[in-house]
Amino acid sequence: MTAATYQYVDLPDASVVTTRALLTARENISDTVAARAMMCIHGGAGFGKTLAVNTCLRALEPGEDVRKITFRARPTARAVRYELFTALDLAGEPPRHPSEFDRLLKTALAERPRTFLVDEAQWLNGEAFEYFRYLWDEPATQLAIIFVGGEGCHTVLRREPMLSSRIFIWQHFTRLTPSEVLEAIPLFHPIWADADPDDITFADSHAAHGNFRAWAQLTAHTRTALARTGRPRVDQELLRWAFSRLA
Ligand SMILES: Nc1ncnc2c1ncn2[C@@H]1O[C@H](COP(=O)(O)OP(=O)(O)OP(=O)(O)O)[C@@H](O)[C@H]1O
Ligand SMILES: [Mg+2]
Repeated sequence: MTAATYQYVDLPDASVVTTRALLTARENISDTVAARAMMCIHGGAGFGKTLAVNTCLRALEPGEDVRKITFRARPTARAVRYELFTALDLAGEPPRHPSEFDRLLKTALAERPRTFLVDEAQWLNGEAFEYFRYLWDEPATQLAIIFVGGEGCHTVLRREPMLSSRIFIWQHFTRLTPSEVLEAIPLFHPIWADADPDDITFADSHAAHGNFRAWAQLTAHTRTALARTGRPRVDQELLRWAFSRLA
């Protein structure tokens, strides 16, 4: 898989930048997986959680069996069972009865160690989180779970002491600081590689505010502006035009 897979839509030539948060995530994820434990990565929208986790999981041992589950609405325990059935590629029809379903999942999870990446975990309510805890607690399963979610994820998890007391590592993703922006952005995309650092700071303080997704959007618009004007390099006039699209 190329690094571009997790990039913001339609941004050719962008690279994954090894930020401090990404390095920390790499260490946290590998320790969590080694301990067959559970961890939680939480933080604001666009701060780079999904990209970091996917990049780090790809770098794990090749034999590691990683299954990704992404929620896009508030699931019931029943919906969680179905998602797991799909994520594990289990054959046949999903069982009708909850107890039969639980047995099937536990048997499948006892086959070999597995890692679940549960993204958009802010959608999970207590019941859904509890179901993951139930599978993780089962002695026969060797499950590592990485919950990734927006700011709300932390709040919801903290309300579930049964689960939150079992979380091995918590990692809070934050905005890039102004000095991190000056290090990371020139590596992110060629249009910033030779840009004036003052222009990068200008763009960050007016538009992107240390948010990686905003930087990706700004980069896409600035790229368009460079192509349309034929200018060789980013300047403040081009940036103002790009900001006008983000407002
Ligand atoms: N380390 C990085 N290197 C390069 N680009 C990055 C990096 N982190 C994030 N990005 C860019 O920012 C975009 C948003 O990041 P990502 O989807 O990981 O955010 P998120 O924290 O998961 O947000 P949400 O909470 O909305 O799911 C990515 O699609 C990518 O373009
Ligand atoms: Mg995400």
